[in-house]
Amino acid sequence: MSLVRLDRFLANAGAGSRSDVRKIIKEGRVEVGGKKILDPGSKVDPDADTVTVGGRRIGPAHPAWIMLNKPAGVVSATRDSRDATVLDLLPEELRGGLFPVGRLDRDTTGLLLLTDDGQTAHRLLSPRRHVDKTYQVTLALPVAPETKELFAGGVDIGDGKKTLPAVLSDINGNTCRVILREGRYHQVKRMFEAAGNRVTALSRLSMGGLWLDEDLAPGAFRKLRSDEIALLAKAAGADMDMEITETADEIDVEE
Ligand code: URA
Repeated sequence: MSLVRLDRFLANAGAGSRSDVRKIIKEGRVEVGGKKILDPGSKVDPDADTVTVGGRRIGPAHPAWIMLNKPAGVVSATRDSRDATVLDLLPEELRGGLFPVGRLDRDTTGLLLLTDDGQTAHRLLSPRRHVDKTYQVTLALPVAPETKELFAGGVDIGDGKKTLPAVLSDINGNTCRVILREGRYHQVKRMFEAAGNRVTALSRLSMGGLWLDEDLAPGAFRKLRSDEIALLAKAAGADMDMEITETADEIDVEE
């Protein structure tokens, strides 16, 4: 749960400028959970509280973020002339402006984020940010003992530059987990190929500290909570709204 100031919540939701919404609050037109609130600095939970202005419900702030458990057989694109895309899995009213944050191969399953927040998405994917991604891997052959060390030292996957150190864990016969800090084309598959093995199934479990919700069946999705959006923004190194809000709390002088 992440609490934000009422005036910030309303301004972010498009109810007016910060000074407009303070005026509206002080006029007694804003209710939180059916109770009139006169203090612009009072806190609301954007995920749980119902906020109304003059009886009209105000939605949580954009940008929109969605977590999808990508099934196999759909492509990570907004449009495709041949295959179904990850956007086809969402109801039409949710799709507007959303795009996938990076790509998973057609046969890769698991955590795929969709957003309309281009800046944070760009930062999460930037090779300079080294955002962690965890994959569950099934292989044709048992994981060779030297693979862990090979991955830790970086692997030549044939594009002129070694991969960044990757962490191999949870090795159990021909399954394991791998944590990457970059996202090159077919990277996991090419790394195991360089180790003399072959990926037969691949699923992403986490990105930027956010883990796939175990309650989401393949093809299912849900909106991210505000604390999850804040976690991603932190991983992206972005100035996030929640942080700005906390700082504003300390420096705001109430009128
Ligand atoms: N690495 C791959 O090889 N494929 C993916 O879909 C993601 C990472």
